[in-house]
Amino acid sequence: MIIAIDGPAASGKGTLGKRLAAHYGLRHLDTGLIYRGVAKAVLDAGHAPDDRARAIAAAEGLDLTRYDEPSLKTQAVDEAAAVVSAIPEVRAAVLAFQHNFGRTRPGAVLDGRDIGTVIFPDAEVKLFVTATPQVRAGRRVAELQARGVKVNPAEVLADIQRRDERDTTRGISPLKLAPDAHLLDTTHLDIDAAFRAAIDIVEAVRAGRKRG
Ligand code: C5P
Repeated sequence: MIIAIDGPAASGKGTLGKRLAAHYGLRHLDTGLIYRGVAKAVLDAGHAPDDRARAIAAAEGLDLTRYDEPSLKTQAVDEAAAVVSAIPEVRAAVLAFQHNFGRTRPGAVLDGRDIGTVIFPDAEVKLFVTATPQVRAGRRVAELQARGVKVNPAEVLADIQRRDERDTTRGISPLKLAPDAHLLDTTHLDIDAAFRAAIDIVEAVRAGRKRG
């Protein structure tokens, strides 16, 4: 089984993806980490994220099997990831890895921006997880503060809005709701309630398939 989860920044899709994978005994891939890895490699080498040739070379040379998650979850990398991910050759370089990951038994939960629309358009279950920008920014602030990072809440909100704009308006693989995706709005849900709602959706889809 493949479960595709798409949604905007800080919508909770990563946490949900992890929990769904554990629940169904599937593998989990947070595809945002791939673009973050590319962005960090470019920044660490002292280049600008919109330097196409450097970004493409970084994507082609990246070890996609190992991530140092905390160092990839910084505000500088947030922004740079949204820039490198809009480069078609960067996306092409990391496509086969995602396909192989999902097709390896017993299947996987992948979360990102284009999983249900581009990477696995035939995924058994597609979820589109969202929440208002204000709620998403609030969660991101809490998460950063819990890690001891000093944050300016207005800046975090502006960062999220800028990334939403980039991710939904870019020419390649923009973030959008697949026609057959199930919308899960977590604005008024905590993570446990969101997880239960996601399970209900997955179970309803599976029951429908068995009947059909
Ligand atoms: O999900 P996360 O916020 O970690 O993703 C970081 C950035 O990577 C996003 O803002 C987006 O530009 C890009 N991304 C993407 N396609 C994916 C996953 C992430 O373009 N499947």
